[in-house]
Amino acid sequence: EAETRRTVDSLSEVMVEAARFYKQQLKSSPVAVEYLKRRGLTGEIAGRFGLGYAPAGWNGLQAVFSDYLDPKLDEAGLLIVRDDGTRYDRFRERVMFPIRDVRGRVIAFGGRILDKGEPKYLNSPETPLFEKGRELYGLFEAREAIREVNRVLVVEGYMDVVALAQHGVSYAVATLGTATTATHVHKLFRHADRVIFCFDGDKAGRRAAWRALENVLPELRDGKRVDFLFLPSEHDPDSYIREYGREGFEAILDAETVPLSAYLTRELSQRVDLGSDEGRAEFLNLAKPLALAVKAQALSILLRKKLAEMAHLDVDELDRLWGLRRGLSGRQG
Ligand code: GTP
Ligand code: MN
Ligand code: MN
Ligand code: MN
Ligand code: MN
Repeated sequence: EAETRRTVDSLSEVMVEAARFYKQQLKSSPVAVEYLKRRGLTGEIAGRFGLGYAPAGWNGLQAVFSDYLDPKLDEAGLLIVRDDGTRYDRFRERVMFPIRDVRGRVIAFGGRILDKGEPKYLNSPETPLFEKGRELYGLFEAREAIREVNRVLVVEGYMDVVALAQHGVSYAVATLGTATTATHVHKLFRHADRVIFCFDGDKAGRRAAWRALENVLPELRDGKRVDFLFLPSEHDPDSYIREYGREGFEAILDAETVPLSAYLTRELSQRVDLGSDEGRAEFLNLAKPLALAVKAQALSILLRKKLAEMAHLDVDELDRLWGLRRGLSGRQG
């Protein structure tokens, strides 16, 4: 055994070795293989994403690393180290999803419990290799497909990305259990002109969509667009494509995807009573910080025009109200 154990020089190497170990373990763990099969995945797709399995037991990684006390294992987030110095594997009895950076280097893991239990997913902590608000699961695997179709689908979960790819929708990435940040979108716009958010149809997914909208507004540029697809409330992309297949998924994508501006105005108009002056005033107050965050010139003008119409104002009046033009504030030009 000892000869297969490795001395590692860098955190990167630690991650590579760990990923290799988890991958091997999957091959010899019928329960884990069965689990992935039950979720509709083939060996081919598991291989493409480098899926693995962290076995039961407290010190599984001892089988790979010659020095389990090497501080790099802790620094890489693979161990839990207690105050008294005792240490054990962070990931045990979990299906392992390696998170790669855009160049394909493993920088973190997500681990899903087999069936029921808490927490359902366990992620690597932040490490020198891994900053959560920046990384997107699946970007490395998806990047060619993203370029080809010039769009990228942003979903919530690891399984959504993998299941979509299993069915031939290979241009999806996932945020890692965190809100979508401006950095995420900035990064995605380097690969495609169109970002489509497709979160779970449940309440949490809808909340996540609104937060994504708020965070992406400053990243909008002319030539770039952001859209939203809302799935039926009982579905996430994984369950939807498993039920309706690629054709069904692409059909709903074509039919139901709404542009950011339509989502924004629809959502705000549902929060107020547009039938009254007071409601329309409130509508404009809610819309103001959002509309002013948009830097894309054409979209910014069109959005103000639409908001003005909905509030029964001229766009000039709206612009004066928001201080974009001289006038209402007494400094007549
Ligand atoms: P499946 O049940 O495997 O289909 O997972 P899911 O991706 O549908 O799970 P869910 O919609 O509940 O969560 C979406 C994403 O949020 C997951 O892929 C994880 O990244 C993250 N997440 C979910 N549960 C947990 C958790 O218990 N802890 C952490 N840290 N993240 C979680
Ligand atoms: Mn930016
Ligand atoms: Mn969910
Ligand atoms: Mn889900
Ligand atoms: Mn799911």
